[in-house]
Amino acid sequence: MSFLQRTVTCGFLRPEHSGNEVVLNGWIHRRRDFGSVTFLDIRDRYGITQVIIERDEMPEIGEIAKELRAEFVVAIKGTVRMRENPNMNIPTGLIEVVAQHLHIVNKAEVPIFEISDENLANEELRLKYRYLDLRRPTLQKNFIMRNKLYQLTHRFFAEHDFIEVETPILTKSTPEGARDYLVPSRVHNGLFYALPQSPQLYKQLLMISGFDRYMQIVKCFRDEDLRADRQPEFTQIDVEMSFIEQDTIINLAETFIHTVWKELLEQDIPSEFPRMSFHEAMNRFGSDKPDTRYSLELTSITHVVNNSAFKVFQDACSLQDGAIIALNAKQCAGFSRKQIDELTEHAKKYGAGGLAWIKWSIEGDIQSPIAKFLTEDELQSILSACSAEKGDMILIAAGEWERACIIGGALRTEIAKRTGILDAVIGTFSFLWITEFPLLEFSSEENRYIARHHPFTAPMNEDVHLLDSAPEKARAKAHDLVINGYEVAGGSIRIHQNAVQQRMFDLLGFTLEESESKFGFLLSALQYGAPPHGGIAFGFDRLSMLVAGTENIRDVVAFPKTTSAYALMEQSPSRVAAKQLGELGINVEIKK
Ligand code: AMO
Repeated sequence: MSFLQRTVTCGFLRPEHSGNEVVLNGWIHRRRDFGSVTFLDIRDRYGITQVIIERDEMPEIGEIAKELRAEFVVAIKGTVRMRENPNMNIPTGLIEVVAQHLHIVNKAEVPIFEISDENLANEELRLKYRYLDLRRPTLQKNFIMRNKLYQLTHRFFAEHDFIEVETPILTKSTPEGARDYLVPSRVHNGLFYALPQSPQLYKQLLMISGFDRYMQIVKCFRDEDLRADRQPEFTQIDVEMSFIEQDTIINLAETFIHTVWKELLEQDIPSEFPRMSFHEAMNRFGSDKPDTRYSLELTSITHVVNNSAFKVFQDACSLQDGAIIALNAKQCAGFSRKQIDELTEHAKKYGAGGLAWIKWSIEGDIQSPIAKFLTEDELQSILSACSAEKGDMILIAAGEWERACIIGGALRTEIAKRTGILDAVIGTFSFLWITEFPLLEFSSEENRYIARHHPFTAPMNEDVHLLDSAPEKARAKAHDLVINGYEVAGGSIRIHQNAVQQRMFDLLGFTLEESESKFGFLLSALQYGAPPHGGIAFGFDRLSMLVAGTENIRDVVAFPKTTSAYALMEQSPSRVAAKQLGELGINVEIKK
């Protein structure tokens, strides 16, 4: 049997439609019975409309209405009229539709949880029944926003003369960074493709091919530890340009973000964003992606206590790159023992051995577990270096410079959360470029240098000489865009000369054979007239998250994985048939 097809959506009707005869299709959001009338809220992605069933007037519809439960799919024909009790919270709240026909199009089991933004069921359950959770108005709004961003992105880059090119999903494994997701080959038994961590090398090769301005909205795959803003498969707005300087990329990205905020959030943000070196960001905020909506800056007290007899400070100062970093947690001297223990645990997650603190109470008393190791002078100098006042608490991290800064940064974020500083800036935005990243970092695990961004990033011109003498000091022509503490985009100017790329691989400890077998195609391409080039990639999901106003990446990914990279709904990854494994020549040995 055919059903009545809608003439309007559930978000359409307004007072001017009073008297019109309409057909609505949608889901029963709520049913309320009052004596001789039944109210139905009918929901679709456009909104909710109230339908009224006058059972005395329409007894046969009244009978059907008795059967209705939440999430039944219905078709209703009726007449629009003004409501006696308007609901100003919804756009259709001034009208209602008096039903003349009611047809149950499809029944529904009692939903596992209520489709509502209030009283959310636990996330695991919602992910298992994701198709139901996606009916929630907030999630629907997020995906409508994500789609707007998608459309805007294509249009923006097309208008700026970029060509969209699709690059392979079955690529070559070149593990430098996160772990690859591997795909076994049936035709070439024992060999594997890798899913791309990003189209980095393809976009560089496209520059060598002369495409000049490339972009792609593209899926990337990384087998890495997940967090609230990470997914194992995620989407990038991937961009590359030839014959440009770093400023060209930065300016283009600023114009793009400006357009996004203007068109999607109707906000006029600055047309240029501040830039800060990696070093400054670490020193001031303890992070290479600081949330600069609030200040709460760190203070280095290394010079203040470098002659201290306190062993922890002495040890830090004796390191080649040691530092003692303090955070003035304003008006936190009232923190309890338990709260300090929690802060200590938090610091330990970031690599701290413990946490030193000094409380200066409102009454003027000083309390600190390290006071007995410090002279009165040292204590006072620390307080004064941190511009401390009565009521403040100083938290101190000591160790290797970057580690101590990171611990300080983690404490900064935690204090901002616990003291309401973060709540006070919700709904505002702060944009920042981080530049001058170190090109390399030393991995003690692998006992070699690894590339901080990726091995194709060019060193800053003034630091090229350092590649021979002090490679760890060389800075990269790299840029990250940070919004509210999220790394929203990252990119760089690339190495476009074969010899420099070879030198880079050499620094990373690759033998000639290894460079050749991993990246021979790139080294070869660099010999055939590679233009100077560079680019950037925006995390599309993170950008969607920010414009949709959520802090959970799963709120903007239609079918996300859990933090253990598991798809709860379809239950993936899963075992495969022995026949499939046989064809691939794979024997599975389950790790204990
Ligand atoms: P990068 O690794 O910095 O650079 O990635 C670019 C942006 O992608 C986003 N991102 C992620 N989003 C969600 N889940 C993840 N697991 C995840 N990992 C990264 C971030 C990040 O800023 N090829 C280079 C770009 C270039 O140099 O042009 C690259 O991939 O927002």
